[in-house]
Amino acid sequence: MLLAPSILAADFANLAASVGQITSVADRLHIDAMDGHFVPNLSFGPPVIAALRPYTDAYFDTHLMLSNPADMLDAFLKAGADGITFHIELGDPRPVIDRIRAAGVDVGLSLNPDTPIDAVMPYLDAIDTLLVMSVHPGFGGQAFIPEVLDKVRAARAEIDGRGLATMIEVDGGVTIDTAVPCGAAGADILVAGSAVFHASDPVAAVHAIRDAGAAARATGVHSGG
Ligand code: DX5
Ligand code: ZN
Repeated sequence: MLLAPSILAADFANLAASVGQITSVADRLHIDAMDGHFVPNLSFGPPVIAALRPYTDAYFDTHLMLSNPADMLDAFLKAGADGITFHIELGDPRPVIDRIRAAGVDVGLSLNPDTPIDAVMPYLDAIDTLLVMSVHPGFGGQAFIPEVLDKVRAARAEIDGRGLATMIEVDGGVTIDTAVPCGAAGADILVAGSAVFHASDPVAAVHAIRDAGAAARATGVHSGG
């Protein structure tokens, strides 16, 4: 089980310090780019990612909530992303998948809570990570939507059934409590923003959430639901 803290919940005035501290224990750093169009919020873009790059060797898991990811893809690649995830709701993902792949960066595809899992099934063999949104994207600190766990189970069964290495990532409202059903459903990576950065001890929170998810992952009956 991998834990990816989302810097959307970090102190933006002290990002380098927060990132340096958390990446000493986290597996990946989740970076949410928002364009105020695909989602009703703005966050940050390539210059902020590039500015953070010298502060850590951590894997930069970049989640693009943009209506036109193709337009700014080169800038995100140049900024130092290790993985780039974009959304299936935008239409045929193949051209963007191919461009990310050609750059030697991991490919992620995400789906919103209301998007059926069937939308991403045809692309599972072409991506490294399936990012299942467990809140409506745009804001941190929202409540976990448990209905998306059915999609995690369905993706787990399909990935295992086809012998794929595609990882399943769950993003939104993940806490030490909701990490448990995520792990049991077969998630491989958990994103947590508020539950990490708003905790009194963010480093301890990383361990606690990851341990809770991993224990459930190990014992949960995930394949086939
Ligand atoms: C939501 C983002 C999430 C968000 C998670 O649009 O994609 O990554 O930062 O934040 P929490 O963990 O607070 O729900
Ligand atoms: Zn995200």
